[in-house]
Amino acid sequence: MTSRSFPDVDADDRAVLDAWYAIGFLDAPPPRTTLLGTALAIHRGADGAIQVRAEGRDAPLPVAERHGCLWTSLGTPPDAPVAIPETRESDRRLVCCGSVDVGASGLRVVENFLDLAHFPFVHTNILGAEPQTEVARYHTEWRRDVDEVWATDCAFHQPRAALSALTGLETRYIYRVASPFVTLLYKTCPNDPVRPDVIALFVQPTAPDRCRAHPVMFLIDETSPQADLIQFQQRIFLQDRIILENQRPRLLPLDPRAEIPTRADSLSVAYRRWLKEKRVRYGTTDSL
Ligand SMILES: [Fe+2]
Repeated sequence: MTSRSFPDVDADDRAVLDAWYAIGFLDAPPPRTTLLGTALAIHRGADGAIQVRAEGRDAPLPVAERHGCLWTSLGTPPDAPVAIPETRESDRRLVCCGSVDVGASGLRVVENFLDLAHFPFVHTNILGAEPQTEVARYHTEWRRDVDEVWATDCAFHQPRAALSALTGLETRYIYRVASPFVTLLYKTCPNDPVRPDVIALFVQPTAPDRCRAHPVMFLIDETSPQADLIQFQQRIFLQDRIILENQRPRLLPLDPRAEIPTRADSLSVAYRRWLKEKRVRYGTTDSL
């Protein structure tokens, strides 16, 4: 497949072109959407299979159904979208939290998801509260065997870590960036002493400075009503959207000197370095 049909993306921006992107939830995929500036039409055939077609192309795009989402790619993607082994546990609840349009680069949205420091200021009295604003030292690594960025040993005191959390909780976090626009976190589950809740953020870049975010949770929670779980997550995400839409530039700078990091930002620094080494340009200030 050539990329000449997708004029918004440079043909050699392979990490972007060859990735899988969630473009909607399987229970109600949109008939039309946009991926990387390309208009897509989605329809379900008589045999039940979903087809995704890109404007100006005859052949249908690759399609996958996974984690409650419909996935596609403009290039030559890996065999399947991101594997999340925990989703095989039979008592986990899949919670698709609704898609949200954000006027910021999708890479900014991923980076914000990886940020512990904003909790007390953006999600006040939910995911953090003053005066407990300090981010304890954590460990960041680029796992070259799987080509992913991880942060482990993260901890933060949270007044309301989850809908099912009835008291404040010292919440432990692990972050995982699986591809430039796909990230997830594992956090202490109030209902299970061993297994963490899993929260994923699948980002669909629609333009360099715009995206649609698809948050999906895989929770251990037998009792909370689905609508309440969705509302809890949407409230948090809408708080993030206000911050994201006010960040300038809207594109993500990859130059390490562009924004001055602190120790708490070591995951963000690792993410930007990883994007730079992958030669990702879409959604970055390097594309200007
Ligand atoms: Fe946030």
